[in-house]
Amino acid sequence: MAFCEYQPGLEGVPVAQSSISFVDGKNGILEYRGINIEELAQKSTFIETAYLLIWGKLPTKEELLIFQEEINNHRRIKYHIRDMMKCFPESGHPMDALQTSAAALGLFYSRRALAKDEYIRDAVVRLLAKIPTMVAAFAQMRNGNDPVKPNDNLNYSANFLYMLTEKEPEPLEARIFDVCLMLHAEHTMNASTFSAMVTASTLTDPYAVVASAVGTLAGPLHGGANEEVLSMLEEIGTIENVRPYIEKCIENKQKIMGFGHRVYKVKDPRAKILQQLAERLFELTGHDDYYDIALEVEKVVAEKLGTKGIYANVDFYSGLVYRKLGIKTDLFTPMFAISRVAGWLAHWKEQLAVNRIFRPTQVYIGEHNQPYIPMEERF
Ligand code: CMC
Repeated sequence: MAFCEYQPGLEGVPVAQSSISFVDGKNGILEYRGINIEELAQKSTFIETAYLLIWGKLPTKEELLIFQEEINNHRRIKYHIRDMMKCFPESGHPMDALQTSAAALGLFYSRRALAKDEYIRDAVVRLLAKIPTMVAAFAQMRNGNDPVKPNDNLNYSANFLYMLTEKEPEPLEARIFDVCLMLHAEHTMNASTFSAMVTASTLTDPYAVVASAVGTLAGPLHGGANEEVLSMLEEIGTIENVRPYIEKCIENKQKIMGFGHRVYKVKDPRAKILQQLAERLFELTGHDDYYDIALEVEKVVAEKLGTKGIYANVDFYSGLVYRKLGIKTDLFTPMFAISRVAGWLAHWKEQLAVNRIFRPTQVYIGEHNQPYIPMEERF
């Protein structure tokens, strides 16, 4: 076996062979199962895309109908889970609530029958169906309200927005949200997917797999960045403040949220689509002044950091879209999780087919043969 040198952040180290998605970072291309994300964003739906990612092919009309129906039938959550969530502190972060609730599903459905196709199918359906319900339930309950029951007449995205806001969204709003879910559904190897795969490789249950991935996604360098982008735009406040703010960040070696990517060295193709969606939404619901600030931030960052290949990533415009859809800032990362669960499950399934437990190595840089110092001699 060839040994490679220690690579901080495992940069460039392959950890799997995968046929789920592909990124060309130089040319800004993203494909799911070989299909360009731009085409999917125009023609597909989140549920169809989830099917494509997980089962490796576009479903027939009948397969899609059955899959949708199965998901609709599992959207409710058990009252035990609701009661557990009612005990969560209202001030807790929704990602922590989601991680706990996702793990709790394992208490009810954990059989670890990983060799059985029906078990895999059930777990996929349950997680896709229940994660949005749990996110919306916590959002309601932390305000002292009962969760809103899923509405059987609404599709996946419209139903989620309905459970979150208790108001049926406009068709364009629901479609835009659905496209957001498609754009975030999968992105090759990244921190949360790797986390999911490491957990999956121990052959634990899929609820633990998703819970560990949710915990990893929560950090500000990964899924949490979209929340930070909105805080940054609020802090900047006016177009005139953009340039000095960005210059100060660069001077202080502070990362500008929503910019930069390990793989993309051009503007993230998802950021381009999200920007178009934001503009369509503003036509429906009115202009957002933060968008003007965002455009100026993008211009100044491109000018100052473009030569280093630092451009807007997926998180830069998603927050503006979510805000216009009436979604609270601390729910932005859970939106990412609702969507990425499709990618995590695709990798879980792929991992199971060729599983070997992850057990990497380390480079030990500590001491050897040290004496045990008695307590009274320590300082
Ligand atoms: N603002 C300013 N400088 C940056 C940024 C940024 N956002 N991103 C990278 N750089 C600079 C960095 O300072 C370093 O410069 P130098 O070589 O002079 O020290 C160089 O670019 C390489 O940065 P790195 O941190 O080594 O790059 P990485 O591949 O380890 O990190 C990243 C990638 C996404 C974590 C990083 O770009 C970042 O922290 N961005 C801000 C947070 C963010 O938007 N995250 C969302 C990522 S996309 C969605 C997702 O994956 O969840």
